[in-house]
Amino acid sequence: MPLFAFDDATCRALAEAHGTPCFAYSAAVAAEQFTALRDVLPRRVRLAYAVKANPHPALLRCFAGLGASFDCASIGELDRVEALGLPPGRTFFAGPGKRGPELSKALAMGVRVQAEGWEDLARLDALATGEVAVNLRVHPAFDLDEGNRIIGGTGPSAFGVDEEEVPALLARAASLRHVRIRGLHVFAASNQRDAAKLLAIHDAVLDLAKRLHQAHGLVFEQVDLGGGLGIPYAPEEAPLDLATFGQGLSDLLAAHPWFTGELILEPGRFLAGPCGLYLARVVRSKESRGTRFAILEGGINHLLRPLLTGQAFPVKAVGKGPGEGPTTLAGPLCTSLDRLGEVRLPALEAGDLLAFGQAGAYGLNEGMTHFLSHPVPPEIWVA
Ligand SMILES: Cc1ncc(COP(=O)(O)O)c(C=O)c1O
Repeated sequence: MPLFAFDDATCRALAEAHGTPCFAYSAAVAAEQFTALRDVLPRRVRLAYAVKANPHPALLRCFAGLGASFDCASIGELDRVEALGLPPGRTFFAGPGKRGPELSKALAMGVRVQAEGWEDLARLDALATGEVAVNLRVHPAFDLDEGNRIIGGTGPSAFGVDEEEVPALLARAASLRHVRIRGLHVFAASNQRDAAKLLAIHDAVLDLAKRLHQAHGLVFEQVDLGGGLGIPYAPEEAPLDLATFGQGLSDLLAAHPWFTGELILEPGRFLAGPCGLYLARVVRSKESRGTRFAILEGGINHLLRPLLTGQAFPVKAVGKGPGEGPTTLAGPLCTSLDRLGEVRLPALEAGDLLAFGQAGAYGLNEGMTHFLSHPVPPEIWVA
């Protein structure tokens, strides 16, 4: 899948038709990305799109139409998925701080809750009137994603139950009247493009499930492997090898014959990233003490990821040929933190149009849109 969802002519047409800054999403690319992944997965692997990556209603409808389930992490995301009118059983609800109204809504919608600790279990038990199956989110003792900051390593975590605390929690859970633990959830990778590493993590999760099954007699209908499938953010980054990944999951299922349930994958970035572009024009360019700056119409109010991760989105100067020089991309906000990256671009002047690729995931919805009260950019769905 290319880094940019639209060619230069389409970028220019979108900018002229809708004004800038704006986000544009390609329905064709979103569908292609979803089906490319779905088509390599074994039958017993279910895809649940992580709504947090991009909750745009048209994107949710697109994935729902292709058979997606959904991973939600707030009442707002549950509302958006409820609006799709899906049958029960297609939605999951994760998050380390679930409040009463959120759990009530999840119960009413027939959503499968990823219980992150005793409070989720007890609160659900108090709200439920019949049997409720939940997955237990475990914070594992292994860290196979090399200390990825988003995952947080094996240290203290706000997420899930520490692996070593699981026996005590299960003993306590025996007193619950309605809630039954029927699944495991582990989220242990982020933006991982190496199929072998993802598979090693998933294998470790299935090993953990096996230990819990053997030691405590837990019967897992589901093992939820979380998200974390990576996408390239630069031309030199290789994409995830889908054929290897799909085959590896089949091999994993074969290697764990004790597990007869369903595997769940919850990718957000992988499914939504490639379909989106952020379009913004250069407001002015300047040279400061030897550094070339381009100051854009939007910055971290629209794309926060470069500040959070230190990695720029791929960017092209629309309609400008080759010719590259180091350029610092700054936004219009009154803070030196408002940077979209140090990139290589042709010489830029006011009015030039830049297109940022892979901006369909963790783009506008992760931005600091309220900061400095600039207008919120439109999001255009290109069917
Ligand atoms: C529980 C859960 N599932 C899925 C995801 C999606 O992750 P990604 O976009 O890296 O695939 C996240 C991201 O934070 C998450 O917290």
